[in-house]
Amino acid sequence: MPKNLLEVRSLSASYGAIQALLKVSLVVPEGGIVALLGSNGAGKSTTLNAISKLINPSHGEVLFDGQPIHTLRSDDIVRMGLVQVPEGREVFKEMSVQENLELGAFLQHHRREMAADFDKVFTLFPRLKERSDQKASTLSGGEQQMLAIGRALMGRPRLIMFDEPSMGLSPLLVAQIFETILRLNREQGLTILLVEQDVRLALSLASHAYILENGEVSLQGPAKQLMDDPAVRRAYLGV
Ligand SMILES: Nc1ncnc2c1ncn2[C@@H]1O[C@H](COP(=O)(O)OP(=O)(O)O)[C@@H](O)[C@H]1O
Ligand SMILES: [Mg+2]
Repeated sequence: MPKNLLEVRSLSASYGAIQALLKVSLVVPEGGIVALLGSNGAGKSTTLNAISKLINPSHGEVLFDGQPIHTLRSDDIVRMGLVQVPEGREVFKEMSVQENLELGAFLQHHRREMAADFDKVFTLFPRLKERSDQKASTLSGGEQQMLAIGRALMGRPRLIMFDEPSMGLSPLLVAQIFETILRLNREQGLTILLVEQDVRLALSLASHAYILENGEVSLQGPAKQLMDDPAVRRAYLGV
């Protein structure tokens, strides 16, 4: 059994009077892919944001590699190797591809290491190399998603949390992005927590999944089991 790289214990969060998360617990084993699913507004992004400390949870604990991180600041969490690729990509539009990637590497002081990281990202996404001097705003949606992933990789993460990487992309691009995510997991041992609207796709990649409803985990289990669950099929797979 691999150890749990990420462990979320009874995490709650609210926006003013709105209770967005209630006692969410989940684990992500080292080297694994875990999916976090649920309808629009279920609390998926809030969960990731609370783990990353982009928002402050009201209760609960988050352990990364056994260390409590809910007491840390978001930049310290990134420095430990837990990185989020946010919903809607959020690249810096007025900056070049190169500059966006450099921002992701703000922890890599060593120039030689940074060059190696650029090589890695450009090997994975040759399109970004071709466009390295272009402003991010001139990239297509798919290229911006590649840039957001590339920027996360520049920080040498151990775990990446993806927030709906397929959003707004054509089926062909979605397939490419997911193939890349799978390769990062298989070839580089990157651990992944995947938030995704495309439940079928997410369950085909993940080994384990959690389903959120109104801020609470309503169902969890091995992905194969959820794929066959009649309630999941009705609610999320349309069959
Ligand atoms: N910044 C915010 N201010 C107030 N309410 C928010 C904010 N962000 C999210 N919410 C609410 O919290 C709930 C969960 O949202 P979210 O985590 O974004 O869901 P999901 O990512 O699953 O679509 C929703 O009811 C949403 O309207
Ligand atoms: Mg969301």
